[in-house]
Amino acid sequence: MSAKLIKGTEIREQILEEITAEVAKIKEDHGKVPGLVTILVGENPASISYVTLKIKTAHRVGFNEIQDTQPIDISEDDLLALIDKYNKDDSINGILVQLPLPKHIDDKKILNAIDPDKDVDGFHPVNVGRLMIGGDEVKFPPCTPAGIQEMIVRAGVETSGAEVVVVGRSNIVGKPIANMMVQKGKGANSTVTIVHTRTKDLAAHCKRADILIVAAGVPELVKPEWIKPGACVIDVGVNRVGEKISEKTGKKVAVLRGDVDFEKAKEIAGYITPVPGGVGPMTITMLMLNTLKSLKFKLGIE
Ligand code: GUN
Repeated sequence: MSAKLIKGTEIREQILEEITAEVAKIKEDHGKVPGLVTILVGENPASISYVTLKIKTAHRVGFNEIQDTQPIDISEDDLLALIDKYNKDDSINGILVQLPLPKHIDDKKILNAIDPDKDVDGFHPVNVGRLMIGGDEVKFPPCTPAGIQEMIVRAGVETSGAEVVVVGRSNIVGKPIANMMVQKGKGANSTVTIVHTRTKDLAAHCKRADILIVAAGVPELVKPEWIKPGACVIDVGVNRVGEKISEKTGKKVAVLRGDVDFEKAKEIAGYITPVPGGVGPMTITMLMLNTLKSLKFKLGIE
């Protein structure tokens, strides 16, 4: 193995400790702590486990946290009214509506109803626009791209002038991370290419990348020979490819694979993120950071 592993699990611990200390200081100076509400509609098991982890993490760093679970048949109007209630609630700094929502609810309408200054997911069009403008305009960068950028910076990888290739053009990862890396500033100033399913020669683009960010959702799409020796490889993919019995618990667990052939890629890359334990743990961490920022903006201390 030649690549340095960039472990999201370790960076998460560092950042959560930093957040905990800052929350304690703000509480002492201003008598306030960040408030986060997560709204979950229905009982999708994956959503329940994400929301539970978000709430547990919020509790750990000293936030006030509310988990608001609503029945699967809640009407769109009732959900909008609930969001309006939290928009007006002074103790709430972050509102997160867990996706996916049931089919009878228009997610765009719901996400657009969240006060952009409490939109800690960064999904509201106002925040997408702020991200596009860059610099001081940015309030809440979306959590997964923010986590990716933070990992690259904390690993000490040079981004200025680097060739960044992003595989995937989703609204939640590909497009925002490409935009963030091309901006002026720390952890950015890169030359960015976005490639996708219609790209003519995926391999040729990947081979040029000093930093290769893969968010395609296709298990082991990126072959080892596509990786430039010494490159930084960020694998955002979390693909369930089967099940196994856990040696630790004796229970059935999913077998996860990234979008990169990790075992071979790690012999060529200079830096690489594992799956699991790479980008995954960063998303919730950045949600905490955005919620803290929201309170700081309100108090005028950011
Ligand atoms: N569902 C899966 N990922 C996310 C996320 O980052 N935010 C929200 N709100 N829902 C999700």
